Amino acid sequence: MNEPRILMCPPDFYGIEYEINPWMDRRRQADRLKAIDQWTQLKTILTEAGAKIELLTPQAGLPDLVFTANSAIIYKDEAILARFRHPERQKEVPVNQAWFQKAGFVLKELPEAFAVEGAGDALFCGETLFAGYRMRSDALGHQQIGRDLMVQVLPLELIDPYYYHLDTCFCPLQPGVAIYYPGAFDEYGQSTLKHWVPTLIPVEKEEAERFACNAVVVDKTVVTNEGCPKLHQQLQQLGYNPIATPLDEFTKAGGSAKCLTLRLDGEEAAGWKYASGESTKRIA
Ligand code: ARG
Repeated sequence: MNEPRILMCPPDFYGIEYEINPWMDRRRQADRLKAIDQWTQLKTILTEAGAKIELLTPQAGLPDLVFTANSAIIYKDEAILARFRHPERQKEVPVNQAWFQKAGFVLKELPEAFAVEGAGDALFCGETLFAGYRMRSDALGHQQIGRDLMVQVLPLELIDPYYYHLDTCFCPLQPGVAIYYPGAFDEYGQSTLKHWVPTLIPVEKEEAERFACNAVVVDKTVVTNEGCPKLHQQLQQLGYNPIATPLDEFTKAGGSAKCLTLRLDGEEAAGWKYASGESTKRIA
């Protein structure tokens, strides 16, 4: 298998310049130097875990460009560019488009009628694309993607404004294994997840608020913000190597480890990236 590749964007122009989710408050500014330090630590951890980091050039006036998880959905050599709900982030699209084009991806665009915020709301676990909708992405947008890629899409309604993107409350670790925060889903969504993910690890509210589910997975390494000891203990018992790193400058914008990354070779849990048969072998 190819080496893991991750897209990140340095936080040179990061800040809380508008409020588009309940975590953001312009009076609670991010400390730029601390943010650069925390971002650099995350990058170092991921490099040590075996990932090759590729960089998107930061742009003045685009403070949320650091959250590369939202730039696109990756499927094989295709990048389905995000369409953002909020005008503040719509300005990121040409920057993302130029990067993916230059990097050699086949670009796919959605019809204008739909918002779909990239991998922030669409995560493969096995062969299925788990898709969070309502606040930032439209379910019909995900349906269209499912038709185009010919993959099964499982729509999950997000009901708590603090967990406005799927990657804030759900994280596939490998085919058949995922972390989730039950409170972000209604009962129907919770039972759907239980049905489709054989090993589903619940995270408590206190750790969900520390962005426990917003984890970056590289092979057996799982990187989260600090303050998620219970989840880390569970992960260890399952044979993972959990690593905590401070990311509180980014939680001020409603993002953490996973939001700051986009897996360019396909997420660890994406069934399509394994040779046929291998993905089922990996189910715990
Ligand atoms: N401030 C950003 C927003 O509200 C944070 C995005 C976090 N990204 C993510 N993939 N959850 O859009």
